[in-house]
Amino acid sequence: MLTQIQQLKQRFNAEIAKVSDLAFLDQLEVKYLGRKAGELTNILRGLKDLPEAERKNVGQLANELRSEIEAKLAQIKSELKSQSDTDGFLDITLPGAKLSEGHLHLATQAIREIIEIFEKIGFTRRRYPEVEWDWYAFESLNMPPEHPARDEWETFFIDSKPIGSKGQRVLTPHTSSGQVREMERKEMPIRMMNISKCYRRQLDVSHLAMFHQFEGLLIDEDVTIAHLKGVLDYFVKQFFGSDRSARIRPFHFQFTEPSFEIDISCGLCGGKGCKMCKGGWVELGGAGMVHPNVLKAGKIDPKKYSGFAFGWGVERTYLMKAGLSIPDIRLFYGNDLRFLQQF
Ligand code: FA5
Repeated sequence: MLTQIQQLKQRFNAEIAKVSDLAFLDQLEVKYLGRKAGELTNILRGLKDLPEAERKNVGQLANELRSEIEAKLAQIKSELKSQSDTDGFLDITLPGAKLSEGHLHLATQAIREIIEIFEKIGFTRRRYPEVEWDWYAFESLNMPPEHPARDEWETFFIDSKPIGSKGQRVLTPHTSSGQVREMERKEMPIRMMNISKCYRRQLDVSHLAMFHQFEGLLIDEDVTIAHLKGVLDYFVKQFFGSDRSARIRPFHFQFTEPSFEIDISCGLCGGKGCKMCKGGWVELGGAGMVHPNVLKAGKIDPKKYSGFAFGWGVERTYLMKAGLSIPDIRLFYGNDLRFLQQF
């Protein structure tokens, strides 16, 4: 029996030296250690039938050989595995690891979509300062110091000394601050689309402390409310779809006369009236005919020129697109990839 074990050991060593892949290694394992008919397993199983004097020696040798075979199999297995991993890595014909690809933030997507629509009808993109003088944000817009209408804009003031007629510095609360800046360029007629960041002391499900507005300003001879309505209808159909329409509703802004709020037909109920819109219409933003005092502040003759302006929130406008039911505007800037990756 001892000779049989010696021979088995020699055969195993000869065979394992030839192993070049995992499948062959598995076959060897079965051949020598297989539970049913492994050659060494059979010897170990037969130990109990040996005479007692022989059993101890044979048993010890057989068990040692089992440990040796197991160790050798494990060693070769791990060598083959790491070799095949390295082979895979170096195989230049395999497709490369796919890099995850980012995309534009949805506010940037919305801004691009909006400007593209207005550029088609002759508006030019502008960006006016986020840190703005009181003069442009309020006073030139027919809101002198202490005027109660200023309260609407919940403004952040910069802690700095007021400078001459420009007054104090503020974080601009609306893109209307670009109106007189645009007039100062003295390029008539004006077709401005100012898309910029605005800041207000507000934060809840429908308000952000930092948001974007887009402000259209058109000034020329003989501009009427009908032109304003035409531009609004054009934008609404392009941006929201041909089944949506806009309406203007009387309102008050200090810098436009008359002033309006713009509503669009609700995308959820199709204008019939639902919980979201209450009556079939959803508010989009403000608009109106530029007030003569604002034209004068921009050194434009109100007897010769007239114009309209409108200013809406980019994020709110985007939320009103059909098919979007975003419950909280703050998700825009929460940096949660699970939300952002959907757009
Ligand atoms: C204005 O800011 C006027 N400047 C609009 C205007 C321009 C009127 C030109 C007439 C002529 P209002 O405060 O309503 O108006 O803001 C306009 C839009 O900005 C709102 O309808 C909303 O869409 C968006 N908006 C305002 N505040 C916030 C906020 N805190 N977070 C997100 N969006 C806001």
